[in-house]
Amino acid sequence: MTAVPRRFPDGFRWGAATSAHQVEGGNHANDWWRFEERPGAIRDGARSGDACLHYQRFERDFALAAADAHTAHRLSFEWSRIEPAPGRFDVAAVAHYHEVLAALRRHGLQPLVTLHHFTNPLWIADRGGWESRDTVDRFVEFARFCAREFGGEVDWWCTVNEPEVFAFRGWSEGVWPPGTRDDGLALRVMAHQLEAHGRAYRALHEEDTRDADGDGRAAMVGFAKHLPQLEPERAWFPPDVVRAWFENRVFNDAVLEAAVTGEIRLSIPGAPAVRRRVPELERSLDYVGLNYYTRWKVRALGPEPHVARRGAALTDLGWEIYPGGLEESLVRVGRLGLPVLVTEHGFADARDAFRPRALVESLLHLARAIERGVDVRGYFHWSLMDNFEWADGYHGRFGLYRVDFTRPDRPRERTRSAGIYARIAAANAIEPEVAARAGLAL
Ligand code: FCB
Repeated sequence: MTAVPRRFPDGFRWGAATSAHQVEGGNHANDWWRFEERPGAIRDGARSGDACLHYQRFERDFALAAADAHTAHRLSFEWSRIEPAPGRFDVAAVAHYHEVLAALRRHGLQPLVTLHHFTNPLWIADRGGWESRDTVDRFVEFARFCAREFGGEVDWWCTVNEPEVFAFRGWSEGVWPPGTRDDGLALRVMAHQLEAHGRAYRALHEEDTRDADGDGRAAMVGFAKHLPQLEPERAWFPPDVVRAWFENRVFNDAVLEAAVTGEIRLSIPGAPAVRRRVPELERSLDYVGLNYYTRWKVRALGPEPHVARRGAALTDLGWEIYPGGLEESLVRVGRLGLPVLVTEHGFADARDAFRPRALVESLLHLARAIERGVDVRGYFHWSLMDNFEWADGYHGRFGLYRVDFTRPDRPRERTRSAGIYARIAAANAIEPEVAARAGLAL
């Protein structure tokens, strides 16, 4: 049998994803910057500092992406730059993001803009952050401002990134700001983020009715959902089964359900449940953004509730390399019957050793998901370049481009994966030779 290329639908978008705090550098007015000053908060005492100097180098970075045949790009606006004090919008920061969006257009990259990617202005954090309902109102006003200001320049808005990860890391595990360990508060924060999404969805549509990409419709609005597989470590051990069920429910299903029905129903054992109806949340997704990285085995007992499958191949961060999970997650979100964008997917691999193969395998699974009827419209690889990986500092290297953080000018170096990805994007297909280069036969 002759090998045939796996083709993607016409108009499928290829790109990479970043977030402001992780790449820009100099974001000193947000809560992460302050958190990084706490001894022991970040691996090896790393700080975001100048990060990748992307705030200055964006044009050159977009040129790299365009030369690699990317046709879209995901970035986030840094709220603390645009609104450094309540209701005061910074003219220079706003002008900067206009330039960024214009540069993307010049390079033929369709922008997907995230409005909340984990960081908060210090003034928000100091007023109680996402524990406070007031933050929901503030965020919706910020979204409204952005829609008015940048409407017509953005094709896809993403309101919030991974509300479940944001809430659990910051308020349950306490490893991200504000460093709290209280499951009840984690549920409350998650509910506030969901409410903020629903209300921002309406505000964005009210203010941004312009057609940025000439497809005859206004921008699409959605959120980015992190969707790991969560399986009991021991299927024969009821406590593992129960815990995995609860986690799946609160972490995965409840979030998607809320954005469809408008009903927020969050509960985990040992914490007060949160139930709230938010009319604006009902049918508040024009597309679902899927962030997929790995699967976890869930354990009820012991200090570490999530472990990698025994014997599995792992990334540099100890996450199982499981490309089939991308297909499973796509099929799962595909059940909502909405367009899907893979808003993040990638591997921490400083040597770019296993990424080429894992990337191609994952994209074969993405093609399978499309064959199985999921309406996938695009794929954004995490990330364009190595960057500040939150509490893991500079340890998790996800970039298609390597960044040398020991040099003040932060040079970029192209990986083999970037070349393979460029071939796939240019052909809008995985050709047999490309698969072979990654060690796979079609
Ligand atoms: C996701 C985050 C992103 C990045 C990747 C590795 O959860 O959205 O910022 O850190 O993980």
